Amino acid sequence: KELPQLLEPGVVAVMRRLPSEHIQDIANALVAGGVTGLEVTVDSDDAFDSIRELRERLGDRAVVGAGTVLDQETTVQAIQAGAQFIFAPTLDRATIEASNRYNTIVIPGIFTPTEALQAKNWGADLVKVFPADSVGPAFIKALQGPLGHIPMMPTGGIDLDNIADYMRAGAVAVGAGGSLLDKKLIGEQDWDGLTAHARKFVAEAKPR
Ligand code: 3PG
Repeated sequence: KELPQLLEPGVVAVMRRLPSEHIQDIANALVAGGVTGLEVTVDSDDAFDSIRELRERLGDRAVVGAGTVLDQETTVQAIQAGAQFIFAPTLDRATIEASNRYNTIVIPGIFTPTEALQAKNWGADLVKVFPADSVGPAFIKALQGPLGHIPMMPTGGIDLDNIADYMRAGAVAVGAGGSLLDKKLIGEQDWDGLTAHARKFVAEAKPR
């Protein structure tokens, strides 16, 4: 499993419903800025094609996964399209087991200590604490006390002002969607601007 490469930058991009004609430019800009973990959410028709295309074009420069994966069937479809990790907002045992069957990183969503432990026991590599912004960094710190053996990736409402707080609270990485995939930069096709923006996220995620 390509876990180190996924987590090393400290930030995973959540690519939700982006213009598919620019998906490659967006991905290139993010990777140039140091964000090498790219999650394509599968809530649009072209998501599997995007995953396939990103894998082909980016090669080992990035780790490409599928997000918003809610069941086993979608897990298998995503892996067949080339997803190297499976990200979910929810905790579903069959999704975890199918991912492990194909030796694919799996990051289910959790929101309580019990769910975090359940996820780990069912074979999750790490957990997505979602929606993180409704509880904040203090929640991660509190969970990491008794559950420090479970790596956590807070996601939901992450931005440049709070990444460092989450990392200090013990997160291994964060997932960032709306704040990282800046609508204005994408609308203007300002790929250099997007690279500079991504670089700021990676800088905020270090030192931990
Ligand atoms: C999502 O659901 O798209 C992710 O959790 C990212 O959320 P964000 O856009 O608040 O970062």
